[in-house]
Amino acid sequence: MIIIKNKEQIEGIKKACILAKECLFELEKKLFIGQNTEKINSIAHKFMTKNKGIPATLNYNGFPKSLCTSINHVVCHGIPSKKDVLKNGDIINLDVTVILNGYFGDTSKTFIIGEVSEDVKLFVERAERAMYKGIKMLKPGILLSQMGKTIESYALKFGYSVVKDYGGHGTGLSFHEDPHVCNFYSRTNNILLKEGMIFTVEPMINKSKNYQVETSTIDNWTVTTKDKSLSAQFEHTVLITRDSHEILTI
Ligand code: MF3
Ligand code: CO
Ligand code: CO
Repeated sequence: MIIIKNKEQIEGIKKACILAKECLFELEKKLFIGQNTEKINSIAHKFMTKNKGIPATLNYNGFPKSLCTSINHVVCHGIPSKKDVLKNGDIINLDVTVILNGYFGDTSKTFIIGEVSEDVKLFVERAERAMYKGIKMLKPGILLSQMGKTIESYALKFGYSVVKDYGGHGTGLSFHEDPHVCNFYSRTNNILLKEGMIFTVEPMINKSKNYQVETSTIDNWTVTTKDKSLSAQFEHTVLITRDSHEILTI
C-alpha cells in the first residue's frame, strides 16, 4: 500500500530530510586518507542525536551501526569498522537515514578519496548523473518503470550496469515503505505516480557489465559486486508535487 502523505506529514519528513543531508555534509568534511569508518560512524551518530534525530539504521533488522559505509566494490550496507581505513584512490558511499520526530529522511552520496583515475572519476560522476536523470522526469502521471528505463539506458551507454537486487523505496513514516523503486527497466514496476508520494531514488551502478551482487556470509550485511568491480551510488528522497517533484534531501 502506497501512502499519500498529507501536509503535516510532508512538513515533518522535510525536516528529517534536511537533517539527513546536513549530516552527510558534515561527514564529507571528515573524509580523508587514513580515516576509518568507525570514526565516521561515531561522528554521524553524534551529529544526528545532538540534533534530536535517531539514526534509523542502528538496530534496524539487526544492523549494528548508525550509517552504511560502502567502499569500492561494496555496493551497499557496508558496516563501519575501525579496520576500514580509507586509502588514496578509494571511493566510498555514505548512506545516512535519520528519524526526526517520527519522520524519516534517507540520502547517500559516493565520495572520492585522494586521487583516482579519470576513468573512475567519470564513473562516479555518471552514477550521480544517472540518479538526477531519473529524478528529473518524476511527476504525477508517469510510471516508475519509465524512470528505471532512463537510468538504466544511461548507465549501459558507458558499459556499466545497474544492480537489480536492491532499489529505492517509499519512505517517510517508516524506513522502507511501498513502492519498491527499480532503477532499471522493469515492466512490472508499473506504479503510477501521484501527488503526495514520497520515495527514494538510489541507483547502484556497477562499473562493469555484470550487475550481479552477493551478500557476505560473514556479517550477513555487506553487499559486494560479484566480479569485484567498483560500484557507486547516490540517493535522494523525493516528493511528488502537483505537477512535478521536489528533492527533499538537497
Ligand atoms: N539506507 C539504506 C537505504 O537507502 C538502507 C540501509 S538498511 C541497513 O535504503 F540496515 F543496512 F542499514
Ligand atoms: Co539510504
Ligand atoms: Co533508501
